[in-house]
Amino acid sequence: MAQLQWSENLVLGMPQVDQTHQEFVALLATVASATEAQLRTLYLELLAHTKVHFGMEDQWMQATEFASFHCHSMQHTMVLDVMQQALDRYDEGDLEVLRVVAHELGLWFEHHADAMDAALVGHLQKIGFDATTGRINNPEALARASKAACGEPDHACASA
Ligand SMILES: [Fe+2]
Ligand SMILES: [Fe+2]
Repeated sequence: MAQLQWSENLVLGMPQVDQTHQEFVALLATVASATEAQLRTLYLELLAHTKVHFGMEDQWMQATEFASFHCHSMQHTMVLDVMQQALDRYDEGDLEVLRVVAHELGLWFEHHADAMDAALVGHLQKIGFDATTGRINNPEALARASKAACGEPDHACASA
């Protein structure tokens, strides 16, 4: 099973996101290739990192009234649920499940980053969002985006 590797194709152009995604991909690889002795500890590290990663994006989506917030955030929640369930199964004696999940998460992530995270980054850039201060430097663009999204269904759910 080829494990996802970081590449230019995964760069979205927002430093905080790209750094977090690069760390995520690296952690997936360490779990996928971990020895039995390291596996649980590395997986816990991946799980903790993923909670922070998703929490960061969820918080930005909420703060900037991102139209696809619900669907995007729901995917995050589902993935964290799967990751927790995998840990429970490992603790019940399924010794392969954590490596399998790390591999599957690589496949999922390529699509998620390309579709949902890329759309979020595009939105944040459009409204001039400063991730360090939380400031929105182009509030007019935010008002336009909110108006355009008003009354429209959350299309991203269908392609998630
Ligand atoms: Fe992400
Ligand atoms: Fe995301």
